[in-house]
Amino acid sequence: YVIGVDLGTSAVKTVLVNRQGQVAFETSESYPLSQPKPGYSEQHPEDWVEKTLLSLRKLLEVSKVPASEIEGLSFSGQMHGLVLLDEQHQVIRPAILWNDTRTTAQCRRIEQALGDDLLKIARNRALEGFTLPKILWVQEHEPDHWARASVFVLPKDYVRLRLTGDLAMDYSDAAGTLLLDVTAKAWSERIATAFELPLSFCPRLVESFDDVGGLLPDIAAATGLSEGTRVYAGGADNACGAMGAGILKEGQTMCSIGTSGVVLSYEERKDLDFEGKVHFFNHSERDAFYIMGVTLAAGYSLEWFRSTFAAEQSFETLLDGIDTIAPGADGLLFTPYIVGERTPHPDADIRGSFIGMDASHKLHHFARAVLEGITFSLRESIDILRESGKSITEVISIGGGAKNETWLQMQADIFGATVVRLENEQGPAMGAAMLAAYGSGWFESLEQCAAAFLRTSRSYAPDAERTKRYDELFAIYRDVYTATAELNR
Ligand code: XUL
Repeated sequence: YVIGVDLGTSAVKTVLVNRQGQVAFETSESYPLSQPKPGYSEQHPEDWVEKTLLSLRKLLEVSKVPASEIEGLSFSGQMHGLVLLDEQHQVIRPAILWNDTRTTAQCRRIEQALGDDLLKIARNRALEGFTLPKILWVQEHEPDHWARASVFVLPKDYVRLRLTGDLAMDYSDAAGTLLLDVTAKAWSERIATAFELPLSFCPRLVESFDDVGGLLPDIAAATGLSEGTRVYAGGADNACGAMGAGILKEGQTMCSIGTSGVVLSYEERKDLDFEGKVHFFNHSERDAFYIMGVTLAAGYSLEWFRSTFAAEQSFETLLDGIDTIAPGADGLLFTPYIVGERTPHPDADIRGSFIGMDASHKLHHFARAVLEGITFSLRESIDILRESGKSITEVISIGGGAKNETWLQMQADIFGATVVRLENEQGPAMGAAMLAAYGSGWFESLEQCAAAFLRTSRSYAPDAERTKRYDELFAIYRDVYTATAELNR
């Protein structure tokens, strides 16, 4: 067996997986998110450690699998979160998370200091969510904390440090810090020195499948695991989500709809210039990359709509019957910018809209319009990838967006591509388990591991007529951004 640990934003999920890729047992333990001021989003690293240990103990107790049969463990983690450590590796302040937006001024400072070099080296624009702006924010606003800071890590690296005593960061997660030279796979001296950061502030870099040690004796005792279980470094949740969906070679694309929505394509061409329109990150496979567009409020838009207008209904009831409404929700259009947007508009101030309301519209029209608006936003990312020369004819759909048949068909019609659902999909936790399986030597490549572990369940082909209708509506959707950009400034 191997264990995959996915350290998410709302919960830590663990899966116990056998050699056939079957999940023998899984757990989920949630922890709080604190928003001490508008735009702030923080968590206590100790909560992550406590809930991870509890999950591992439960996994062993309930599955009754002997500890000696668990060969390896690896991680997937929420990206970009800043965990500042002192010389003794003690946490200095709560972690500042990926969805914290306090750092707009620091982003401008980074752009001014680095100019074109930022895109050349870090391959991404300075966005509030990334790690370097958070580091600069602490430098500027919390001099006492900053004076104690010796090194930084990302969320899953901190949990792994506590489990093994080893301090490291893998390339796929390091890519989201803005401090990595993404193509050269090394910390960038140019970027670090521009902000007076010594390179010792950045941890040792490793591959996601590298063996970083065994479990510390007190951790083995607390969880029931064996000290002999090997720990592999792990990767960013988007890289692990991609692996868990089998996105491991050129031409493969996935759409993941959770709180946020992601369209992601495998990429081997490291010299293409996307002008920062999409993220370009290292994959968890050696020397591979992926490009990715993000819709900030995907599932979050649907949850906002349900809890605000239909709090008594479950998602199933709310979405039941929306398939009887024609594409376009009888003239109702929604843009999902309720917390701002990332791709293709890196704009924290834009807000969403319902347009075209008619006295005959019922709750179900609104629900359908919300799904369509989220999917239009993801289509904008698909178009950028297509413009780069990528042929996207098939998209693996995972997450909440893959749980509803009408939504899956809608994705196929709006993307103009066949959409495929997986059997027993486990998201990034499966990618983490695959890293442990590959690290443990079960397979010769991650691709072989994906072939053994993952099975598709159903595909949804685009319908030519509906795709044509959606293309017309999409043209109107794209204009709404420009027409409403000044509304909330
Ligand atoms: C990616 C991003 C999110 C987090 C969520 O750039 O900010 O997808 O990784 O955990």
